[in-house]
Amino acid sequence: MSEENTLTVLQGGKPCYDIVYEKDLSGLTKALKDHGLDTRRTAIITDTNVAPLYAQQVAALFPGKPLIYAIPAGEENKNLTQIQEIYRFLIENHFDRSSLLAALGGGVVGDMTGFAAATYLRGIDFIQIPTTLLAQADSSIGGKTGVDFAGYKNMVGAFCMPKLVYETPAFFQTLDGRQFASGFAEVMKHGLIRDEDYYVWLLDHMYEIRDRDPETLTKMLRRSNEIKKEIVEQDPTEKGQRMLLNFGHTIGHAVEKYKNFTLAHGECVALGCVAASFLSWKRGLLSKEEYYEIRDMFVPFGLPISVTDIDREEVLRLSKSDKKVRDGKRNFILLRSVGDAFVDQTVTDEEVLAAIDEITWTEEEA
Ligand SMILES: NC(=O)c1ccc[n+]([C@@H]2O[C@H](COP(=O)([O-])OP(=O)(O)OC[C@H]3O[C@@H](n4cnc5c(N)ncnc54)[C@H](O)[C@@H]3O)[C@@H](O)[C@H]2O)c1
Ligand SMILES: [Zn+2]
Repeated sequence: MSEENTLTVLQGGKPCYDIVYEKDLSGLTKALKDHGLDTRRTAIITDTNVAPLYAQQVAALFPGKPLIYAIPAGEENKNLTQIQEIYRFLIENHFDRSSLLAALGGGVVGDMTGFAAATYLRGIDFIQIPTTLLAQADSSIGGKTGVDFAGYKNMVGAFCMPKLVYETPAFFQTLDGRQFASGFAEVMKHGLIRDEDYYVWLLDHMYEIRDRDPETLTKMLRRSNEIKKEIVEQDPTEKGQRMLLNFGHTIGHAVEKYKNFTLAHGECVALGCVAASFLSWKRGLLSKEEYYEIRDMFVPFGLPISVTDIDREEVLRLSKSDKKVRDGKRNFILLRSVGDAFVDQTVTDEEVLAAIDEITWTEEEA
């Protein structure tokens, strides 16, 4: 496929799956047909918030009559118990190896549906119809699937590529402000790690983005997806380069867990990006002005740059138990400059504590 509305993700140099961009849902039937997915028996996996908004409308766009299964919404349900319920639903309804799963929802639904597809009958096909900004900009591509385990993020999972990703900003009409902002944190991350021009473009288009102008958002999704695509194509299973996508996630995940998942994922990513940029400044890589510009850019997009009630030692401990620790060394992503991230294994506990302090808001500062 080389249509203008399509971006093809490669694996091993060969086309693996397409991301299709449309202004609304009406192109879904054609996209399924174009990709030979229209004759499959399908289960739409969604969540209890998205189901009443979109499940019937989306189901009607599939030839045949797909069944719909809704997981209880929320990160706290991203676990193996809910995966078992999906398996049960698939078995009871006689889904077989030729069947298709369609993830209709945010990153939680996408990660779980992908994991169910990767493991049910040793693997069946799935597609992504992401409905949050975070899922369209980031989580629906790259093939990382999985669930949280014992409070640890994404501890159990599999790499499994979707057969198609269908993106439309039409879904954002019902997304609340906090969730929209959360997705924007990953978008900022893409600019910061790989593309200074994109970062500047985001700054320049702040108002259009905040107003959710569909054309601006489609351009933004496409550029974010291109950046992620380039990185995952080079390193599909995170042996090196792909770690750059974890920028902001070492401290971000630690705060997310410390706050018991009461903050949105992207809110924690924003905090983590501020912390990692702060460290980059302290290491003399970024100028003070650059650091403050990055930090302050999250604010107009409704993202936090500091957080209250943090136990610095506990967040430090949690940052070390993250998956990103390899051979006992913490892989920390720093910025050499805006648009140029690298993996560093020498970040000390003292530096991490200083970064945690930087994002901690205390009464005395008020
Ligand atoms: N696989 C990856 O590469 C990857 C990358 C980044 C994040 N993630 C994962 O993604 C998850 C976060 O994703 P998320 O932020 O989309 O969270 P989410 O899936 O929980 O969605 C956020 C909330 O919005 C609701 N919602 C979804 N679409 C909606 C719509 N169109 N209108 C109204 N409400 C809607 C959901 O029901 C939920 O309550 C985390 O679990 C994170 O670990 C995965
Ligand atoms: Zn993330």
